[in-house]
Amino acid sequence: MNKEHESGSNARAVVRGGGSFNGELEPPGDKSISHRALIFASFCKGRSTLSGVSLGADVSANVNTLLKLGVDVHRDPVDPTRITVVSDGPSSYGEPSEILDVGNSGTLLRLMTGVLVGCEGHFVLTGDRSIVQRPMMRVVSPLRQLGAKVDGRDGGAYAPISIRGSRLKGRDLSTQVPSAQVKSSLILAGLMAEGTTKIHELIKTRAHTEEFLSYLEIDHEIVDFDSGARDVTVNKLTRAPRAFTLGIPADPSQAAFFIAGALISSDSDLVLRGIYLGEGRDAYLKVLERMGAHLSYENLRDGAFPIGDVGARSSLLKGTEISSAEVPGLIDEIPILAAIATFAEGVTTFYGVSELRAKESDRIATTIEMIKRFGGRAESDGERLSVFGQRNFKPKACVVDSYGDHRIAMSSAIMATQADGDTEILDFGCVETSYVDFAEHLSQMRSGEIFIA
Ligand code: S3P
Repeated sequence: MNKEHESGSNARAVVRGGGSFNGELEPPGDKSISHRALIFASFCKGRSTLSGVSLGADVSANVNTLLKLGVDVHRDPVDPTRITVVSDGPSSYGEPSEILDVGNSGTLLRLMTGVLVGCEGHFVLTGDRSIVQRPMMRVVSPLRQLGAKVDGRDGGAYAPISIRGSRLKGRDLSTQVPSAQVKSSLILAGLMAEGTTKIHELIKTRAHTEEFLSYLEIDHEIVDFDSGARDVTVNKLTRAPRAFTLGIPADPSQAAFFIAGALISSDSDLVLRGIYLGEGRDAYLKVLERMGAHLSYENLRDGAFPIGDVGARSSLLKGTEISSAEVPGLIDEIPILAAIATFAEGVTTFYGVSELRAKESDRIATTIEMIKRFGGRAESDGERLSVFGQRNFKPKACVVDSYGDHRIAMSSAIMATQADGDTEILDFGCVETSYVDFAEHLSQMRSGEIFIA
C-alpha cells in the first residue's frame, strides 16, 4: 500500500491486490476504552497512568479537551501510548476560554456533553463537518430532564453544543435509541446529579462505562432483564475515586479488519494479540463463526478486562442472518462484515440497521457503494441491509471513496487486497481518526505486498 503524504485529511491510498495474511499483530488500544479511561482518570484524585492508549485523532481530541479544561494530562514523548493524568476530580475542571474541538469523534461529543452539563462554567463543543451532522437530541433531551442547560443548532439537535453547567437532579431516564454513547453520557451526568439516576435501555449496548464503574468501585447497580434490556443506576459521586494504573487492551473493531483479510484470502493464518473480548464487543466473532470462519482463541485472561489472542485462517464462508438485537454489539463491524459477506456463499442480511445512517458517514449508503464499486451486490430498504455473496467472488480493482469514514476506508482496503490490480481509495487520511498505523500493519501482515512509489 502506498499512502501518499499529502497534507490535510484527504490523502489517497493505492492498494495492490494479491497476497495472503500471515503473522502476528497487536492492534492499537481500544478507542472506546481509551476515551473512558481518560475521562474517568480526570474524575479521580491523584495521578493515573494509562498505557496502550489509542493514538488516533479521536482520542487525541479527548486529551486536548481535558487540557483545555485545565486537567494535567501528559503524553510520554518516547511512548505516546502512555499518558498520565493528574487531577483533583471533576470539580477541578475550569471554564475554558476556547471552544472544545472534538474533531470527528461522536463518542467524545456525547460523553463530554454528559460530563460538562454538571460542571461549573460555560462550554462550547463542536467538531468537523461530519460531527455537526451527528444527532444530539438523543442525549440533549434526557439530559434536559435532569435539569441540564444545554443547547445547540436546531434547538439542541446538532453541534455546536453550548452548555451552561448547572445543578442536576437525578431521575429515571430511558434511552430512545440503543446507543452506548447515549447511555454513557447519561451515566456520567448521573454521577454529577443530586440523588439517584436510573438509565433504562431496551437493548443492552456496549458496557465499557459500566466496566469502569465496577473497576473504580463507584457505587452503582446493574439489572439485566431476560428481554435483553438493562438498567444502570448511579448516585451522585460524593468523593473522587482512587487514581489508577491501567493497560488498555487492543481494539476488537480494528482487529476485525485483519481477521477479515485472513478469512477471505487463501493460505492465510494470522494471530491478533491482546484483544478485548468482553461482552458487547465479541458479537462479530460469533457471527463469523456462524458463517463458518476458522477462528481460535488462546491466552484468555481476565484482568481489568477480559482479553485474549484471536487466530484467523482462510475459510470457506456462508451467508447468515444478523438480528436487530445483535446489531448494537457489532455496530462498528457492519462495514467489514458486509465486505466479508461478499465472499460468503448466499445472502447475508443485517436487520435493524437504521442507526448506521447516523455514523461518521451514512454507512448504509457508503457500505453499499463500496461493495458495488468492487462489483459485488448489496441493497437496503433502510432497516435491513442484504449482501449477496459468492465464494469465488473476485473484486474488480476500482476507485472507491471513503467519504471521510475511517471504517469504510479500512474495509475498502481489505476488499482491495483480493482485487486483480490496483484500487485507489479516496479520502484515506480519515483512517488516522482511529488507526494511525493501519497502512503499515497491512503491509506487515500481507505477503505479496507491492509498494508503489
Ligand atoms: C461507542 C459506541 C458505538 C460505536 C462508537 C463507539 C462507544 O456508538 O459506534 O464507535 O464508545 O460508546 P453507539 O453506541 O452510539 O451506536
